[in-house]
Amino acid sequence: MRVTFSANGKPVEADDVWEGESLLYVLRERVGLPGSKNACEQGECGSCTVYLDGVPVCSCLVAAGQVQGREVRTVEGLAGQDGELGLVQQAFVDAGAVQCGFCTPGLLVQTDALLAADPQPSDTDIREALSGNLCRCTGYEKIMDAVRLASARKCSVEGVAK
Ligand code: FES
Ligand code: FES
Repeated sequence: MRVTFSANGKPVEADDVWEGESLLYVLRERVGLPGSKNACEQGECGSCTVYLDGVPVCSCLVAAGQVQGREVRTVEGLAGQDGELGLVQQAFVDAGAVQCGFCTPGLLVQTDALLAADPQPSDTDIREALSGNLCRCTGYEKIMDAVRLASARKCSVEGVAK
């Protein structure tokens, strides 16, 4: 089947998609957006997190046919139009929170979603929001630092009172 949808604001179409194919596979293998990672492909790790109509989802659990006519935003879509890093991406770099390429993309999308909903989350809120994004190899302190930094910058940019 052919699936057409919007990816990071651009119309895309994928042909010869079979019924069991995941959105993650379509993004990585058919659309040329490999930022979302296929770490577990079972909905356990969050590495494949993308926005679907503005809501973060595990793209490995979304059937490709479900995205027909809908809007997808991937980690690539967090960058600016000229390719400069977005606020959350830059904060992860500056806080030293960019770990491996598997967990980082999902953490970035989930953090972006968290701060869109609440620019000043508490540490408990951050831990809860990122609880579905697993890293198997290190601690989460740098990630916490990065989210706090992104929050502070976002509040500064948007004039949110402390
Ligand atoms: S690859 Fe989708 S949740 Fe792990
Ligand atoms: S899974 Fe990415 S650094 Fe651990």
